[in-house]
Amino acid sequence: MEAGNHQLSMTILMTPDLANFSGKVHGGALLKHLDEVAYACASRYAGRYVVTLSVDQVIFREPVNVGELVTFLASVNYTGTTSMEVGVKVITENIQQRSVRHTNSCFFTMVALGDDGKPCPVHQLEPKTFDEKRRCIQAQQRRQIRRELQERYQAIKEDVLPSST
Ligand SMILES: CC(C)(COP(=O)(O)OP(=O)(O)OC[C@H]1O[C@@H](n2cnc3c(N)ncnc32)[C@H](O)[C@@H]1OP(=O)(O)O)[C@@H](O)C(=O)NCCC(=O)NCCS
Repeated sequence: MEAGNHQLSMTILMTPDLANFSGKVHGGALLKHLDEVAYACASRYAGRYVVTLSVDQVIFREPVNVGELVTFLASVNYTGTTSMEVGVKVITENIQQRSVRHTNSCFFTMVALGDDGKPCPVHQLEPKTFDEKRRCIQAQQRRQIRRELQERYQAIKEDVLPSST
């Protein structure tokens, strides 16, 4: 199967139903949209059903207000054998002020599943442009950092609770 487009964008108006108690957009509402965008980007690329294995670097740098337009720019940065790293950049636009700000960037690891529900290989990404190559190299570095982080978390767990596994 040929690879689909590896990039996708989605713009959503922040409506009052997404607000938290202080009138700003709920972090969980943004997380839901982020996950949907990562799913759409990875599944279209792979031509498969995909699941979210992990998400990292979700940092809300500043609040998003009701009435603003949020654009999610997603891109498959790297392919492993069955997994893909999808980077999502979030741009928030204040319509009245005509101002745009970069409010968040995060990285999802999505795994493609075959008809049997098991992980299945995806088409290997072929980065062409300078930015695609840069994102691919950085994604490989993040993959390594995730491994190291897991090992360190495991070491902490074993250190504090030596008798429990
Ligand atoms: C994602 C899932 C299918 C992987 O299953 P698995 O038995 O670990 O499969 P594999 O060992 O074949 O690994 C599949 C890929 O995930 C990666 N992976 C699995 N566990 C990992 C971990 N703990 N950390 C980093 N990568 C991991 C593997 O490296 C592999 O990627 P690669 O093929 O590109 O090298 C399984 O963990 C799952 O179903 N998770 C639930 C997903 C879900 O429901 N998400 C929605 C939120 S509830």
